[in-house]
Amino acid sequence: SSSCKVLLHFVNQSGMKTSVSAMEGESLLEVVINKNLQIDGFGACEGTLACSTCHLIFEDGVYEKMEPMADEEMDMLDLAYGLTKLSRLGCQVTVERWMDGMTVRVPQEVKDRREKPEAEI
Ligand code: FES
Repeated sequence: SSSCKVLLHFVNQSGMKTSVSAMEGESLLEVVINKNLQIDGFGACEGTLACSTCHLIFEDGVYEKMEPMADEEMDMLDLAYGLTKLSRLGCQVTVERWMDGMTVRVPQEVKDRREKPEAEI
């Protein structure tokens, strides 16, 4: 296809940066899978909005330009560990041309919400 290539930088849990060339229109989850990025436990529910393991943290200027979140994403994101004001679920974010050069960070803690909840006090 003639889709545009968009350069993206991923910083993983250990702070290592990987730069990939993504296709316009793929989700960030698809980018991680297609580029075989090593991110522990990422995308466990394969984009069905059931796990929150695809939690990513964006840059300020990027975050505010992104499409607003659907309620479903917001609800699942609420359950993610280490939630920030710049957090989104990677399976719900579509790569757009203007994102060229952006850096996304993987939070330190990833938790699959489908796992049995641990006893909490
Ligand atoms: Fe599970 Fe995004 S991959 S919510």
